[in-house]
Amino acid sequence: MTVQEKLGQLQQLTWTGDTGPGGGQTAETEAAARAGRLGSVLNIHGARNTNALQRIAVEESRLGIPLLFGLDVIHGFWTTFPIPLAQAASFDPEVSRRDAEVSAAETRAAGVRWTFSPMMDVTHEPRWGRIAEGSGEDPYLNAAFAVAKVEGYQGPADGSRLAADDRIAACAKHFVAYGGAEGGRDYNTVDVSEQRLRNHYLPPFKAAVDAGVATVMAAFNTVSGVPAHGNAHTMRTVLKDEWDFGGFVVSDYTGVEELIAHGFAEDGADAAALALTSGLDMEMVSTHFVDHGEALLDAGLITIEHVDEAVARILALKHALGLFADPYSDESAETTEPTAAARTAARETAARSMVLLKNEAAALPLDPATGSVAVVGPFADSTDLHGTWAGPGSHRFPSVSVLDAVRETAPAARVTHADADPARAAAAAREADVTVVVVGEDPALSGEAAVRSDIGLPAGQEELIAAVAATGTPYVVVLVNGRPLALGGWLDTAPAVLEAWHPGIEAGHAVADVLFGTVNPGGKLPVTFPRATGQIPVYYNHESTGRPYNPAHPDEKYVSRYLDLAEGPRLPFGHGLSYTTFATSDPVLSRDDITRAELEQGETVDVTVTVTNTGERAGDEVVQVYVHDVAASIAQPVRRLRGFARVTLEPGASTTVAFPLGAEDLGFWTNDPAGTFLVERGRVDVYAGTSSTAEARRTLRVL
Ligand code: GLC
Repeated sequence: MTVQEKLGQLQQLTWTGDTGPGGGQTAETEAAARAGRLGSVLNIHGARNTNALQRIAVEESRLGIPLLFGLDVIHGFWTTFPIPLAQAASFDPEVSRRDAEVSAAETRAAGVRWTFSPMMDVTHEPRWGRIAEGSGEDPYLNAAFAVAKVEGYQGPADGSRLAADDRIAACAKHFVAYGGAEGGRDYNTVDVSEQRLRNHYLPPFKAAVDAGVATVMAAFNTVSGVPAHGNAHTMRTVLKDEWDFGGFVVSDYTGVEELIAHGFAEDGADAAALALTSGLDMEMVSTHFVDHGEALLDAGLITIEHVDEAVARILALKHALGLFADPYSDESAETTEPTAAARTAARETAARSMVLLKNEAAALPLDPATGSVAVVGPFADSTDLHGTWAGPGSHRFPSVSVLDAVRETAPAARVTHADADPARAAAAAREADVTVVVVGEDPALSGEAAVRSDIGLPAGQEELIAAVAATGTPYVVVLVNGRPLALGGWLDTAPAVLEAWHPGIEAGHAVADVLFGTVNPGGKLPVTFPRATGQIPVYYNHESTGRPYNPAHPDEKYVSRYLDLAEGPRLPFGHGLSYTTFATSDPVLSRDDITRAELEQGETVDVTVTVTNTGERAGDEVVQVYVHDVAASIAQPVRRLRGFARVTLEPGASTTVAFPLGAEDLGFWTNDPAGTFLVERGRVDVYAGTSSTAEARRTLRVL
């Protein structure tokens, strides 16, 4: 390979469409492919399109190295599954594995062998639109869902299935701490201690690397002053050296170029040198590696070893994907729409992801034999509930509306519709036996560069709810949204509220399945819902502070609280109700103490919890186990999720779930930049229950 050909492998250009500034490089892309100065292309799909471009690279360039095609398949290609935040609410990573497997098959058939997914950015920032794309505020939950997605896309960690015609390479993003952007403003500054970086933001990425993730994408933000695209500590020291990551790191869209705007690089050449020497391997859309690489080599500002390392990593993945053996896709095998089975998977996943926030006097489930149902609100008849970062299918296949699904589910009922106008909605409600109010966020308010300074219900929706409530007709509220919302006073009076998120292609069917009880909701909140925007950040895994609020002394002035807001979240992490009831036992520990030596040898303490369905119908409960190291050399979160299990129980049935607690559950990373993980002696409180507010506790002593 010539130097130019080597540098060409480090270049990714976009085809059409823009998922970042500029966009649409079709002509440059074809020319670069023909010249052998291109390694990868994003935003292209369709076997005919990919084969045509692949033929240029393989048959017209000197070496004929095949191109790697990538696309953002975040929660579906033809079949749009619920947004990832919704999937996290299922507390069942298997739903994400199912999404990834269906998506991989559809994507591969469309000529694309690489997705820029899963996103695993832990965040406490509901103003940040990209909270929709990840698995919420907890590292452990994010890690579980990241692994399920990586395995679902790629197959087993050894990469043995990557060349199969229903598997694609995954991408752990965004490396790292993107979810910590100040003010929740996208691309904004992240200043984070080493301990919080390692205890909070890095764990999902480590889990993805251990699951064999093929690639990692750098994040747009700085990490304590050093942009992630030029951060040797995170990309080289942690990812490539400490974790021995064998895949490659791709920039985000023009992320190398943006080192200049960060005030970190003087110019394009400087940006290329800083990025490449810090461990970045492939440049997305901007072209500084190719433009300046030879001069940088001549000037000794980069070495050929830097270039060769990146080339080797990229070619290794192309080989593992079978691109050298078979660079083309079978156009006859291409699918053009969701299969019935895929739609069923999407529908089941969406229903499993929904969270019953409130249900007084069994307002839900509704009776399919109800005489008349009014379905009102701005999203009552919406066919655009796929959510942010929905794939090509969202442009071709409308999501099923709630209105249509209610009509299907209650065929004998008189089902009426009214839009967002309060008067019209009230008029419809007055004529109905029950009203379903569908409010929330347009998907355009969610996702990248979609940050809200006020996370209340959008204008007019609270008035709509109030107008319906004033009619006296029984009503239930369905929320369709891509982030936690600051829910107003209406939450205190609404009889029932279902959090449906943005549920994807089968949105309406899944909502109706839950509303009418075909599915008993069992989801839990993967993010805290604040009382007000001004309360942000508010999250369950917070530090105690030296002056924590004590509910036993609510009037104590000198504590960490707001003068004008009640203490604590509106709805806590892990919260979610069911149409039945459950009882959970206190946690039982297999032993009351364990030495650090035993933990270092892999010994564990088993926490067992027995859960019983004490109601009248089958249902799911999510048993959760949290730990709190009450005195440590780094102040620990008051709760850390270290185990969860969603169980299905018939009325009266019980089951006992066991969670092993080992060193990784009882220790923590320190502020040592070289990475020091400590398990300290002392008391660890172990909580178990059905939300982060669980009070049942046992004490474990680490000796
Ligand atoms: C976007 C996103 C990233 C995505 C990439 C390619 O800016 O930050 O998540 O994968 O560009 O579309």
